[in-house]
Amino acid sequence: MTPDVALPEMTKTSDKTPRKILVTSALPYANGPIHLGHMLEYIQTDIWVRFQKQRGEICTYVCADDAHGTAIMLKAEQQHITPEALIERVHKEHLSDFESFSIDFDNYYSTHSEENKQLSQQIYIACRDQGFIAEREITQAFDAEKNLFLADRFIKGGCPRCKTPDQYGDNCEACGATYSPAELINPKSTLSGSKPIERQSTHYFFKLPEFTEMLKTWTRSGTLQEQVANKLAEWLDAGLQEWDISRDAPYFGFEIPGVEGKFFYVWLDAPVGYMASFKNLCDQRSDLAFDDYWAKDATTELYHFIGKDIINFHALFWPAMLSCAGFRTPTAIRAHGFVTVNGKKMSKSRGTFIRAGTYLNYLNPEYLRYYFAAKLNSTTEDLDFNLDDFLTRVNADLVGKVVNIASRCAGFINKRFSDQLSGQCSNIELFDEFVSAGVQIAQYYENLEIGKAIREIMALADKANQYIDEHKPWVLAKEPGKEFEVQSVCSVGLNLFRILMVYLKPVIPSTVTHAEHFLNIPPLTWDARKQLLLDHRINKFQPLMSRVEQDKIDAMITATAAEAAMEASKSSEDQIDIGSSLESNKTTDEKSPQINFDDFAKVDLRVARIIKAREVKGADKLLQLTLDLGSEYGEDHLRNVFAGIKSAYQPEELEGRLTVMIANLAPRKMRFGISEGMVLAAGPGGSDICLLAPDEGARPGMRIK
Ligand code: 2FM
Ligand code: ZN
Repeated sequence: MTPDVALPEMTKTSDKTPRKILVTSALPYANGPIHLGHMLEYIQTDIWVRFQKQRGEICTYVCADDAHGTAIMLKAEQQHITPEALIERVHKEHLSDFESFSIDFDNYYSTHSEENKQLSQQIYIACRDQGFIAEREITQAFDAEKNLFLADRFIKGGCPRCKTPDQYGDNCEACGATYSPAELINPKSTLSGSKPIERQSTHYFFKLPEFTEMLKTWTRSGTLQEQVANKLAEWLDAGLQEWDISRDAPYFGFEIPGVEGKFFYVWLDAPVGYMASFKNLCDQRSDLAFDDYWAKDATTELYHFIGKDIINFHALFWPAMLSCAGFRTPTAIRAHGFVTVNGKKMSKSRGTFIRAGTYLNYLNPEYLRYYFAAKLNSTTEDLDFNLDDFLTRVNADLVGKVVNIASRCAGFINKRFSDQLSGQCSNIELFDEFVSAGVQIAQYYENLEIGKAIREIMALADKANQYIDEHKPWVLAKEPGKEFEVQSVCSVGLNLFRILMVYLKPVIPSTVTHAEHFLNIPPLTWDARKQLLLDHRINKFQPLMSRVEQDKIDAMITATAAEAAMEASKSSEDQIDIGSSLESNKTTDEKSPQINFDDFAKVDLRVARIIKAREVKGADKLLQLTLDLGSEYGEDHLRNVFAGIKSAYQPEELEGRLTVMIANLAPRKMRFGISEGMVLAAGPGGSDICLLAPDEGARPGMRIK
């Protein structure tokens, strides 16, 4: 054992002027829930922001909901609510998910805001007044029933090359062909089912090609990762196109100043939402000034974290428009890859399109933060969320290595030394080694090599465990006269643990907060790692993290698959205009998920008699059925079920018939009342729906096995 040396208190933090940094993550659309694909970006950004703040930099993180566009307008219409009501509800849901995952935004706003309207108009007018907006007629597909111009994704038909039916208006999922919607065989609007017609309309274009030289310089000035810069060089060399920034009414967005009935395309005002969210924050905080971060000559730093699919918007249109309108351009764009699950694209039918909220019902958010961190690097490679590896890695690293250091040492200090740590450090070399490692770890965090930072931290955790293994406090504790050594070894262990908490704080902030309480110390700054805890009283140790359990992961996947099935059936029942087929929400590659026998055994399929059937006021597709499950069910034998079979049956022809129902489906609140089960039917939809019926001899209540 090395001689005891007391390290002088090193409390002085760096005197350098803090950097001023503004950071954003891409704005999620306000028409759907946050899923784990989104979470990768928010976790990556949040780790980086927390790291900067921990280092004493002035770092501000803003985001918002991306609230405009046709999809949001249609979704609200489908739900019989206003777009404003929809985006308000989704805003709350998004915020709640982000808070649960400890995503620490300084402001989370909405693009549907007054600040955004003003800034978007200001940017547009500046571009227009300098002659960078062109106006011309274009011909577009139009849905005459819905009175709406149709984006390519709202048109489906047969692929002109391989003839596969039901392909989107711009490319074929089966053979990969790209084409224009006009080339589709038998094209249909997915909104009304009608055949699109062609119609002319005046559109407004941002003259992007005029910014080619500016963008060539900007994209090669350290603003982009190498692979992204290379991709952009290809696009720039191939020649840029003017960008259509307008959409015709009806559209949920901001009207273009000076032109009635035309709206900004959602992608024009979305990035302006970064500025607007920051502006809104500045109006609440006297320490932040908008111009410090957005004026042309601003010396502050501006980073946009995004997914690799939206690089063109952030590295072409956005810097060009900013510079045109007299604002600063971003310091850098940080693009990441997509999340795959078990090596495959996230899929609803496989139960791997996991919502943040569903994950949270089963698993600790810090597990995911750690797992993503351990696998993140600075490239745009995809990141695989491998469920087996997730369990193994989190359990081995966080529980088995890191938390274990504290739990191995704390008991002795709590029980035998009245919570008091030694007055001296008996292994200053090891302590120094841990402190010095902070330089490299910080470098990795700064450069977004977060996985490398984690590997360094885990190597240190191994060393700390090795130290404890070698000194065996549990053996010393039984030897007379070795009391002092037990306290000394455990104090070194806890000091090493404290340094690990400094390094892991950006990744698992909530666990570290608990550790700070246990160690009885103020919030850990990066420089605080240099301090030794000597003669210090700690609190009682409480387990800081439990192990990931396989059955929780399984339950999360099962719940996700069930949500997807529910969503598909709900949209077929609630759908207002998006086709009439029962299968219209299934993409061609989506087959039903495989289930095991136990899953099947949970479904209680019973024979039931339809004793009443009636139309539902205001519902195009539903019939309301009263089903009788027979005397075996006692008081619970009558069930109210809404079924999407109106297009195939007259209510009176159903009364008295036997059918098959799922009797143990949890009651579901629908627009027209509570549905207490589901009847089984087959067929593509419309008049071609066949309600299942048992063979002769069946009686209500019989179980189908
Ligand atoms: O791709 C998306 O999900 C967009 N809602 C991202 C917008 S980012 C920014 F430009 F607003
Ligand atoms: Zn094809």
